[in-house]
Amino acid sequence: MPSKVIAVNSSPNMDKGNTALILMPFLEGMRERGAEVELFYTKKLRIRPCQGEFRCVIETPGECFQKDDMEVLFSKIVDADIWVFGSPLYLSGVNGPMKILWDRMVIPMGEAHTEYKEGRSRHPMREGIKSGKVILVSSCGYWGLHNFNLLIEHTKELCFHTHREYIGSILRPHAYALKSLVEGGNQGDDVLEAARMAGRQLIEHGELSQKTLDIVSRELVPLESYVRVVE
Ligand SMILES: Cc1cc2nc3c(=O)[nH]c(=O)nc-3n(C[C@H](O)[C@H](O)[C@H](O)COP(=O)(O)O)c2cc1C
Repeated sequence: MPSKVIAVNSSPNMDKGNTALILMPFLEGMRERGAEVELFYTKKLRIRPCQGEFRCVIETPGECFQKDDMEVLFSKIVDADIWVFGSPLYLSGVNGPMKILWDRMVIPMGEAHTEYKEGRSRHPMREGIKSGKVILVSSCGYWGLHNFNLLIEHTKELCFHTHREYIGSILRPHAYALKSLVEGGNQGDDVLEAARMAGRQLIEHGELSQKTLDIVSRELVPLESYVRVVE
């Protein structure tokens, strides 16, 4: 059976953005290895914020009373073997639309009661909610990979609370340099090819090689040409 992949890109720049630059080849690589990939843009969807009433846990398990595009998306998320979340880095985390989506999906998946194990609390998953893999794809404006640290931790927390396996992150720091190189037409191809390779690897081996991820995130231009270094 081919892997079912759901990808969501929350960038307001959608397919023209920096995040899409690395997300698209990554998804293409998965398709090349037979995965069924569906991509959604939060900007095209109407997803209201969670109202915090817990009706989806207590009154109508797994069902939100808000009737919006989350109805269709939620069933696809629950059904997918692999979740790919593409978000630009905003204030060291996901951007608003992605956070709204995460809030809307995590709580309805769980049982009403919480379990406490090894010093941590979480809801057990409701019956029928399958497990699977999660990949983060992100781009940022600042220079270094460390800018993604909080976002990676947050994504791991999402995995913990949805009982899913965090596989890794495809990250593009100083992303504006990639955009201008690619638009210039003669450099950065290895970065896009590595993103595509990561997609193939994920479907073939169920994991991402660090060597491939390092190429996606590689230094593209001299630091001094991208930022003003101050003492
Ligand atoms: C509101 C806002 C907050 C941002 N915060 C950060 C940040 O904390 N760190 C960073 O490196 N870049 C930050 N950026 C830059 C974006 O991460 C960067 O422009 C990203 O590549 C945009 O992706 P997109 O073209 O797919 O929308 C921010 C941009 C905006 C608009």
